[in-house]
Amino acid sequence: MAGDQSAGGRVRPPLAIVVAVARNGVIGGDNKLLWKLRSDMLHFRAITMGKPMIMGRRTWDSIGRPLPGRQSIVVTRDTSFQAEGAHVVHNIPSALLLAQDVAERMKSEEIVLAGGGELYAQMLPQCDVLHVTEVDLAPPGDALFPKIEPSQWREISRIAHQPGQGDEAAFSFVDYVRC
Ligand SMILES: NC(=O)c1ccc[n+]([C@@H]2O[C@H](COP(=O)([O-])OP(=O)(O)OC[C@H]3O[C@@H](n4cnc5c(N)ncnc54)[C@H](OP(=O)(O)O)[C@@H]3O)[C@@H](O)[C@H]2O)c1
Repeated sequence: MAGDQSAGGRVRPPLAIVVAVARNGVIGGDNKLLWKLRSDMLHFRAITMGKPMIMGRRTWDSIGRPLPGRQSIVVTRDTSFQAEGAHVVHNIPSALLLAQDVAERMKSEEIVLAGGGELYAQMLPQCDVLHVTEVDLAPPGDALFPKIEPSQWREISRIAHQPGQGDEAAFSFVDYVRC
């Protein structure tokens, strides 16, 4: 799938969101994940491995370290912010341009947007693909994923799973492409 045209006339690789969402749209609370789902951790690892990963500063703080095999691009308005083992940028266009360079260096055919709520809300209109884990829980939380509008997104795959070892809920892996 083609991505967008970016500055310099280069074609940006597709931008893919990876997110786990509860039934009530919650993705986190108090800057933490609200569930333990080992299967989803492995799914996240498989989708993101070898790719540039854009994330908001709060998500970077919640992960607490660079993830091996991936290059994190942290978006913050704080011009003094430093993140050891990650790139830091101060706006979304810069994040996308840098991600494109990093994708070329890593020979990655996709750029990943790894959260959190603020970044998903701002960048969803620019995304091409959604890798959504629907989590069969409805916890209270303060970070949300925007509604996936059926007029804009077409579901292309859905695999339902009962909880496996290390999973505290049932879940489904659902992929969408932009209509
Ligand atoms: N379930 C999932 O799949 C999933 C995935 C990721 C995260 N999460 C959860 O989501 C929560 C974090 O999400 P969040 O919405 O609170 O924060 P976030 O989106 O991770 O980060 C927000 C921060 O990003 C920076 N930022 C946002 N927009 C910007 C812009 N246009 N230009 C420059 N900087 C910008 C700001 O950093 P500064 O304040 O430093 O300026 C802002 O405070 C946590 O609970 C986490 O566990 C869940």
